[in-house]
Amino acid sequence: MSNEPSLKTEPELNEPPVQDPSWLYRTINALKGCNWTTLTETDVPPTDLRGKWIIVTGANNGIGFEAAKTFATWGANLILGCREPPKWETHPTIAVQEIVDAARAASHECVVEWWAIDMGDLDTVKAFAERWIETGRPLDVLCNNAGMAPHSANEQAATKDGIQILHQVNTISHIYLTYLLLDSLSKSHSPRIICTTSCHHFRGFFTPSTMNDCTIRPVHLRGDLYANNKLYFQMWVAEMNRRLLLSDKYKHITINGFNPGFINSGLWKFSEENRATSMGRRMEWTLNFLVSRFGISSYQGALGLVYLATSGEFGGRLEVQGVGELGARGGGNYVNRIWKATPMPYVEHLGSRRELWEALNGEIRGVRKDEEELGGLGELERVGGDYGRESRL
Ligand SMILES: NC(=O)c1ccc[n+]([C@@H]2O[C@H](COP(=O)([O-])OP(=O)(O)OC[C@H]3O[C@@H](n4cnc5c(N)ncnc54)[C@H](OP(=O)(O)O)[C@@H]3O)[C@@H](O)[C@H]2O)c1
Repeated sequence: MSNEPSLKTEPELNEPPVQDPSWLYRTINALKGCNWTTLTETDVPPTDLRGKWIIVTGANNGIGFEAAKTFATWGANLILGCREPPKWETHPTIAVQEIVDAARAASHECVVEWWAIDMGDLDTVKAFAERWIETGRPLDVLCNNAGMAPHSANEQAATKDGIQILHQVNTISHIYLTYLLLDSLSKSHSPRIICTTSCHHFRGFFTPSTMNDCTIRPVHLRGDLYANNKLYFQMWVAEMNRRLLLSDKYKHITINGFNPGFINSGLWKFSEENRATSMGRRMEWTLNFLVSRFGISSYQGALGLVYLATSGEFGGRLEVQGVGELGARGGGNYVNRIWKATPMPYVEHLGSRRELWEALNGEIRGVRKDEEELGGLGELERVGGDYGRESRL
């Protein structure tokens, strides 16, 4: 065995534990996520993406669809990661056609395909990644965007992998997909990973021991699972970034998390089961009323994702990563639409992130017992031991 550092040899951290922020802090910061500024081409300028390959999950609807359409009008080749949707949602074949039409209208003949992936089923995540790897192409941008809200989940639902469904769809599957595609990303010149987290992460509670408790109702009093999922996802982004920077193989990969805004999208639709009661119907009506009055369009929300995928500001930091621009922000950020913002204190707390990192990876390994390395994860764990280096990066 080599003498490389590993998690098991990491020094104990002497940081004080994070104090749970107050209700007021959480509420104010979550509300800051509902920023109505209308973005224009001046804020998010068109970029030449010809020859680039971009994967967007959850791209048949909402933010993912609008982002994919914009990428295609700028010339990118796209793989839309979608499931066979419920009958009330847009089918991916229709989304592909609209995106191809938009690309052609902008004089681009790019490849746009949809490939099956169900974020509630890790076998399909693995099959999707293998299909991509078989193409041998370097991956330029991975957009981990698919997501679901508690009201579209059934009570106490566990997936066939035995994981709480919101936790798997919103967090675990994206993390697994990223590990599997890491090698392919590393072959691109200046690859980026963008994770659609949420301003709701401010309403989350850091309770990793219960994050996969399938007996907890999707909405419960102490925050909700969605807010917790998004907090964990944003924390994982920060920890992943730290480890990528410590790896000679992966340090040119830039990973960020972002809140798209309060969006008038399909996220607010209730599942048939949750709509069956008069209380459910009233809640759905109220939410849809609020989002139709106060929400911004999916296109506006998507511009944040597009900005993170293309701007110099959120690309690699040349002086650290060897790619990108001098003084760029690099990775590990929480971005509110297109503006860098301060995330929940847990996101910046190394000890909490380490605890979470081990718990999340343990969950994935618990299901995918056959995979020792999990794509690039083995490498990232070996480089993860040097906490002291973060301040120099
Ligand atoms: N809307 C907001 O105000 C808001 C705010 C903050 C963050 N976000 C985040 O933004 C992202 C996009 O949401 P959106 O607002 O664009 O909502 P949306 O229109 O409902 O889009 C969600 C996408 O995720 C896909 N998806 C859901 N479950 C899936 C599964 N098991 N497997 C594969 N794909 C699945 C959906 O596909 P189907 O059509 O098959 O369901 C859809 O394409 C989500 O991560 C959401 O949490 C949204």
